[in-house]
Amino acid sequence: MRFRTILARTVLVLVAGIASAQARISTRISIWDRVYTDAQAMRGHTLYMQSCARCHGADLSGTYEIPPLVGRFMPYWSGSTLDALFDYVSTAMPLDHPGALGAGANADIVAFILKSNDIPSGSKELSPTGLKVINFDSAKPASRPTRK
Ligand code: HEC
Repeated sequence: MRFRTILARTVLVLVAGIASAQARISTRISIWDRVYTDAQAMRGHTLYMQSCARCHGADLSGTYEIPPLVGRFMPYWSGSTLDALFDYVSTAMPLDHPGALGAGANADIVAFILKSNDIPSGSKELSPTGLKVINFDSAKPASRPTRK
C-alpha cells in the first residue's frame, strides 16, 4: 500500500515535470512578437550613432571589411536566439573597446538593430535578461500571427 502511494507520487512528480517542460517550450517567442518599444529603439539609435556608426555606418550598411547590420545580417543570425546577438554585441563590440557599454545600453542597441530591420515594435521594452526564449527568425514565422 505504502509503496503504491510512493509510486503514485513519483508518477505525479514526473508528469508535473513534463508539463512544466512543455510550458517552457511553448513560452518561446520570436523577435516578431513585438519585443521592444519605439522609445527604446530611439535611445538605441543615439547610442549606436555614438559607439557603432563610425564603423558599421549611419545606415548600418557596413563597408567592405565591416559586416552590415541590415540585409544579409538577418539570414546570418537566423536560427539563433536573441541572447546570442546580445552577448556578441555586449562582449565583442565596439570592436576597439569591447564590453564598454552596459547591459541596458546594449539591449537598447539591439532594439534599434531590430527596428532597422523592419521588425515590429510593441509596448514592452526588451530586457537584457530572458533573451534566450526569443527566437531570431529572419522571416516572420508563417503559422503564427504576430502577438499584439
Ligand atoms: C572599430 C570598428 C567597429 C565598431 C566601433 C563597432 N564594430 Fe561591430 N564589427 C566590426 C567588425 C570589423 C566586425 C566583424 C568582426 C568579425 O567578423 O570578427 C563587427 C561585427 C559586428 C557584428 C556581427 C555582425 C555579423 O553579422 O557578423 C555585430 C552585431 C556588431 N558588430 C555590432 C556592433 C555594435 C552594436 C557596435 C556598437 C556598440 C559595434 N558593432 C561597433 C567593427 C566595429
